Amino acid sequence: MAPHGDGSDVAEEAIVADAERRPISTIVIIIAMQTEALPLVNKFQLLEDSDSLYATPGMEPKIYSNEVYLWFPKGVPWVRYHGFYKDLHINIIWPGKDPKLGVDSVGTIPASLVTYASIQALQPDLIINAGTAGGFKAKGACIGDVFLVSDAAFHDRRIPIPVFDLYGVGLRQALSTPNLLNELNLKVGKLSTGDSLDMSPQDEASITTNDATVKDMEIDALLRLTVNLDTGSSCRLRSRSFKGPVIFLKAVTDIVDGEKPTAEEFMQNLAAVTAALDLAVTQVVDFISGKENCLL
Ligand code: ADE
Repeated sequence: MAPHGDGSDVAEEAIVADAERRPISTIVIIIAMQTEALPLVNKFQLLEDSDSLYATPGMEPKIYSNEVYLWFPKGVPWVRYHGFYKDLHINIIWPGKDPKLGVDSVGTIPASLVTYASIQALQPDLIINAGTAGGFKAKGACIGDVFLVSDAAFHDRRIPIPVFDLYGVGLRQALSTPNLLNELNLKVGKLSTGDSLDMSPQDEASITTNDATVKDMEIDALLRLTVNLDTGSSCRLRSRSFKGPVIFLKAVTDIVDGEKPTAEEFMQNLAAVTAALDLAVTQVVDFISGKENCLL
């Protein structure tokens, strides 16, 4: 590994600065549920990759009509929908259905695997994670609100040993996007991630400590993969492993500190709230079109 102070940080910053000046061209949108993904697939008129396009391990990705074939390993349930919208190459990545049970592969592990594979295969300029979340009315969340996440932490990984405890929680800041916020009518809030839809008393204590307004089942994985880097430039937060920004949009389907059972409220509101989420994603994509990372 290169020692610190040997110029590698300078080279890293030069790469980041270059990425910031390029207009955003390739976007990856990670979405956990098919119900959330399909309206956007239709809106952007995207096509699903067929199995035959999947490269076998060790193969170079083939370039064909400006398209890069994915490097998803054969046999995984992950699905890419892709196409061109305005000046953007849009890729919606859905972790697919559990092969045995036939339900969406929700949770932090499928989200981190598809995000890693998509970064490797597509080298996107921007990643958007769009999904639903539980909201806390005590923190101002209402059903149908769409939040732009400012900070995220994990409430489901408890390691009571000094420093490992901080590692477990993994508090991280998301990209600050002041121009995007000015343009769109979104709320901003902190998020806490876990792998459960319900909330145990221990989760509740951690979520309160994390000061979260919304609660989801994906973000921690994405933030860890795309470690933000303070470059000191006007576009402060960038990632080391991935040279573009990550934006998190979360729409509230259920009120965690409300009266209704979470699962029931979630299922009841999923379709209507998905419409609000997909509208927000479309507005973000329209805003991004023709812009450089620096201008978000
Ligand atoms: N997605 C939608 N509602 C949620 C909740 N209450 N917890 C975690 N993820 C969710």
